[in-house]
Amino acid sequence: MNPDPTASRAGFREDDGEGGRILALTMISTPTKCATRHLSDQFETPVSPSLYSCACFNYLTFHVTILITGGAGFIGGNFVLDWLAQSNDAVINLDKLTYAGNPETLASLQSDPRHTLVQGDIGDSALLAGLLAQHRPRAVVNFAAESHVDRSIHGPEDFIQTNIVGTFRLLEAVRAYWMGMASDAKAAFRFLHVSTDEVYGSLSKDAPAFTEAHRYEPNSPYSASKAASDHLVRAWHHTYGLPVLTTNCSNNYGPYHFPEKLIPLMIVNALAGKPLPVYGDGLQVRDWLYVKDHCSAIRRVLAAGTPGEVYNVGGWNEKPNIEIVQTVCRLLDAMRPRADGQSYSAQITYVKDRPGHDRRYAIDASKIERELGWKPAETFETGIEKTIAWYLANPEWVAHVQSGAYREWVQTHYAQPEGVQQGLASSAESSAS
Ligand code: NAD
Ligand code: TYD
Repeated sequence: MNPDPTASRAGFREDDGEGGRILALTMISTPTKCATRHLSDQFETPVSPSLYSCACFNYLTFHVTILITGGAGFIGGNFVLDWLAQSNDAVINLDKLTYAGNPETLASLQSDPRHTLVQGDIGDSALLAGLLAQHRPRAVVNFAAESHVDRSIHGPEDFIQTNIVGTFRLLEAVRAYWMGMASDAKAAFRFLHVSTDEVYGSLSKDAPAFTEAHRYEPNSPYSASKAASDHLVRAWHHTYGLPVLTTNCSNNYGPYHFPEKLIPLMIVNALAGKPLPVYGDGLQVRDWLYVKDHCSAIRRVLAAGTPGEVYNVGGWNEKPNIEIVQTVCRLLDAMRPRADGQSYSAQITYVKDRPGHDRRYAIDASKIERELGWKPAETFETGIEKTIAWYLANPEWVAHVQSGAYREWVQTHYAQPEGVQQGLASSAESSAS
């Protein structure tokens, strides 16, 4: 990575949003080990009080860090993996490791010094202030949330705490950090808030898809809590000038998806010979996007989005739930036929509907395409096939999620690597204080 000599020392710029290749400069205030995997034990030579070069590069390399919250979850985990596959920016990954946070998703990064997993809560102001001061990220991407509608119906409290109070605390910590930045770094800083199309409410059958101008009409405790967090993010821009970006995305699917959500639940139940529960008449419509396309959209918005703007993200893939379930069955019939030769669709079972079940979501993703040139790479047909292939190839990940074994994973696998140990330690110290 050759630094652009015309870029300002503490600024950064991107040469192409889609690939996410970043030519970056940042200030690092204390000598640190090189953040690049293969250089981990070589050392950096100070070239100024705030810049360090890597001994093994023939030119100066400048390290930047981004802070990801909720990066052990489904979308955050995919984002961290994709980010580190394409960029040398180090990632500080703050995750509470709730039932939905699975460090096994990040197993391939276990000895990658660019990734530090910190177990902690976005509602922990002291921890946030410490992480921001220590790592001086050039951006924060907020994935952390309680995300399952059914859980929000049975127990909304956690949704209020994390999605609303947690986002508020995160915004306040980031604002304090951002206020103290040097002016060029301050101008380049971004806070990207990852949100959902569910904040817009439910569409009738023929209504046009949600644009960014659609009014907020959240119907579930989950969507109401996300709507509240979106409003806080907006207000922190308008009131304090914090350079925020918000993305509202449709339903995601893909690898590492916790099997409480429709698509992974259907795959996992089908293979286990269990019923495939379809709520109500199964004709509710969702708009599906392959998770890696969501990740590329977030990278693009982070690189080129205008602060204060909202970008809808979607795959133009509206489908009724029953069609999704039938597609999963059909693909499994071909890829892993049932021993008795019957179709998995024999396991489909209609069950009582979800209370307040939104009938239809649909995202109009034309703004992000028009203004930022982003388009999904996958169709539903290619994405769902990749997803099913991933679940078939990763029975261990699924088994650990089902048995709960993944919850022990940090203790058994993260005992050694320096980055994680520090993270867990700093989190523990902060909770103790
Ligand atoms: P997820 O439930 O799989 O992951 C959430 C992650 O946040 C988990 O790792 C969890 O441990 C962590 N977390 C929860 N509370 C926390 C807290 N207080 N502090 C720190 N970490 C905490 O969710 P997901 O599906 O990956 O969704 C990520 C984000 O994207 C959410 O904000 C969600 O609203 C949004 N979103 C999701 C979808 C979707 O289809 N899954 C679609 C659009 C937007
Ligand atoms: P889900 O994956 O929970 O996402 P969301 O509620 O955020 O859209 O559900 C997707 C759709 O599938 C939703 O209309 C509810 C329906 N659904 C079922 O019919 N059966 C199930 O077992 C689940 C989990 C969801």
